[in-house]
Amino acid sequence: MVKNSPYSVMSAEEAAGFVKHGDTLAFSGFSPAGSAKVVPTALAEYVQEIHGRGKPFKLRVLTGASSGCSIDHLLAQAGAIEWRAPYQAETFLRHQINNEKVEYVDMHLSHLPQAVSFGFFGKIDLAVIEATEITPDGRVYLTSSIGASPTYLKYADKVIIELNRSQSPRLREFADIVMMPSPPNRSPVPIFEPCSRIGWPYATVDPQKVIAVVESNEPDYVADFSPPDAISRKIADHVVRFLFKEKQANRIPPGFLPMQAGVGNIANGVLAVLGEDTDIPSFTMYSEVFQDAMVDLMLAGKLTGASATSLTVSSKRMQAIYDDFDFFASRIVLRPQEISNHPGVIRRLGVIAMNTVIEADIYGNANSSHICGMDVMNGVGGSGDFTRNSYLSILMTPSIAKNGRISAIVPMCPHIDNNEHSVQVIVTEQGLADLRGLGPAQRAREMINQCAHPMYREYLERYVIESRGGHIRHDLARCFELHRNLMEYGSMLPETAIG
Ligand code: COA
Repeated sequence: MVKNSPYSVMSAEEAAGFVKHGDTLAFSGFSPAGSAKVVPTALAEYVQEIHGRGKPFKLRVLTGASSGCSIDHLLAQAGAIEWRAPYQAETFLRHQINNEKVEYVDMHLSHLPQAVSFGFFGKIDLAVIEATEITPDGRVYLTSSIGASPTYLKYADKVIIELNRSQSPRLREFADIVMMPSPPNRSPVPIFEPCSRIGWPYATVDPQKVIAVVESNEPDYVADFSPPDAISRKIADHVVRFLFKEKQANRIPPGFLPMQAGVGNIANGVLAVLGEDTDIPSFTMYSEVFQDAMVDLMLAGKLTGASATSLTVSSKRMQAIYDDFDFFASRIVLRPQEISNHPGVIRRLGVIAMNTVIEADIYGNANSSHICGMDVMNGVGGSGDFTRNSYLSILMTPSIAKNGRISAIVPMCPHIDNNEHSVQVIVTEQGLADLRGLGPAQRAREMINQCAHPMYREYLERYVIESRGGHIRHDLARCFELHRNLMEYGSMLPETAIG
């Protein structure tokens, strides 16, 4: 129980009763880490009950990025979400978006706090924020993610705090929270190395806006990290060899540069292989998500410091952090997402960014988010923040998907979120295409020879030869032939009867 609280302490069910049809709700959470949990779960039940009575109840939902099960799964299943931003990674919600039942704003994650502060999403009726403590004067100690919570606490009309007892109060030792003023009143962000601290361990809220405090005991439920599979390992080996050569050529300094790694098993696998490689010195990270592989790298002394906005680790790795908190507290900094993903800081530090894409075209444009340009997978997330601004931007993908029925290297991507002007290196298990300094014809050769799967090389070579000449060779009648085949026949090259 919360003793002597100046705030109204109530059950999640009672707190959910404050939410009205048509409200815009902002939840804490960046991935499952730090997501609001018990209030959205109670809200999902409440909405189902209202829908059962034949009444409408729809919400506009904001978070920091993807979220925990209670938001994007339970609320979506209850049919409560009509609009969602800025990122999601949940199967049921994805279906609703792709079936045009939910309007989805897919955006760069560093832009979100500014978009909220300028009111691009309208007013925020209520924020539900997970914390380990709220003080009477309105200091809010957040949990395993910072994300956009400081912004939501500031701009929401009303606030509910979920006090989560399963999260260690010591998590505040990671937090470094600062709010950016609006332009033109911004100064350079004084981060000169990944773990520079420039802010406070808490966010703030006007206590008058806090309408409820709710107790919670739910952990983050982050899935276990699977060890790298054979494809991820090959991709990782190419990346590691390339980075080593870059270091030998003095294009990466002896002390190395800060790394960023995207979400998922490929990125985790690359980090694991980097950690094993004795040619790569110990390094730091300026990244978005602190994930499982990074815990192991830190314990092994390979990762000496990391900045992120969320601690998205499985319960086993979280326990390892709790078991040796003093060690991790001096090496991890969690920041608001507009700082963890800040273009100016990423460029100043000279980050090496490694993100995963769905497909890339032969000229180096990439699609991280939309299958056949139409159905969203997750979203662009933070990949654009890092890919555009890093010193070295590396994109990774297996060369084929679905047993070869899909090539990840195509003539033209039907959706482009990271374009050729931002991308320097593309890697598949086949090899690595270093696109720096290459014109379009050279890029196409490199991409086909190094990255495409052998079963698609001939098609891609023919495409280039038979296309109309220009600065960039293309045949607008055929550039999406592979995607059209996939949609019509279930395979990009149906005549080869692959898979
Ligand atoms: N065309 C169609 N489907 C494809 C495909 C392609 N070119 N490539 C992969 N797929 C399918 C896979 O077969 C798989 O299907 P399944 O769910 O039916 O098994 C699905 O897409 C996901 O592929 P997978 O290889 O498992 O993806 P992943 O978990 O490695 O994630 C991204 C890859 C690109 C979806 C993910 O990294 C992402 O969302 N990136 C954008 C955001 C980002 O980079 N964030 C980090 C920034 S800090």
